Amino acid sequence: MLRVRNLKCYYGKIRAINGVSLSVRPGELIALIGANGAGKSTLLQAVCGLISQWEGEIELEKHSLRGLKAPTIVERGLSLVPEGRLLFPPMSVLDNLRLGAYLRYRRREQRALIAEDLERVMALFPVLQERAVQPAGTLSGGEQQMLAIGRALMARPRLLLLDEPSMGLAPFLVRLILDTLVQLKQEGMTILLIEQRARRTADCRPRVCPGEWADCPGRGRGRPAGRSGRETRLPGQGLSRIL
Ligand SMILES: Nc1ncnc2c1ncn2[C@@H]1O[C@H](COP(=O)(O)OP(=O)(O)OP(=O)(O)O)[C@@H](O)[C@H]1O
Ligand SMILES: [Mg+2]
Repeated sequence: MLRVRNLKCYYGKIRAINGVSLSVRPGELIALIGANGAGKSTLLQAVCGLISQWEGEIELEKHSLRGLKAPTIVERGLSLVPEGRLLFPPMSVLDNLRLGAYLRYRRREQRALIAEDLERVMALFPVLQERAVQPAGTLSGGEQQMLAIGRALMARPRLLLLDEPSMGLAPFLVRLILDTLVQLKQEGMTILLIEQRARRTADCRPRVCPGEWADCPGRGRGRPAGRSGRETRLPGQGLSRIL
């Protein structure tokens, strides 16, 4: 579904990623683990059309994403839960969710489906239903993360990308988020999850990422992945994948 080949990303003269390859097959839940500064967010942003300077290949369902703007990429079935959630704090929970479907409101035939998706997200995270009219900025950290995931789902993606959704959350909330991802996978969604902590992520039994990171600036060893997974140090650098 997603294929990244020898991706190199630049911020001006700074090279943030130097040669990353990975592929995600339909229906897979993939977890990639990397240290601070390894280039995880840059990778996801490049895939979403948010990085202007990159080399290599990024293909979604065998079509190149080169030159496409983020809204077009979202319309092609990809949706990002960004690092730090990036909600609209003064707006209500409901309006944040509706914004996730922003591009779909243009098409009249989508309206009924949007209403369906809203119900589905509320069922997935009942607390969002309870807090529907509350400003998003007044939610707890865990609730905000659920809202960020819910907003991404409102785009009705076929491939969901998540950038460190467990950041700053208590273990039971991490569990809840990962359980939700497993449920989404069982319903047929393809998921690429980026995390720093292998141990937590391993509990949702992600499959091998048949890809490789190379020569990234990040450093540092990851910790063991825990009982249901095993962590591998990838060649030469500070990024790891879970088996
Ligand atoms: N806007 C930017 N301008 C210049 N350099 C940047 C920019 N954003 C990121 N970088 C650099 O690119 C490299 C990769 O950053 P990135 O944010 O992708 O890492 P990360 O793996 O997501 O880290 P973290 O775990 O801290 O979120 C870092 O060296 C960072 O300093
Ligand atoms: Mg990051």
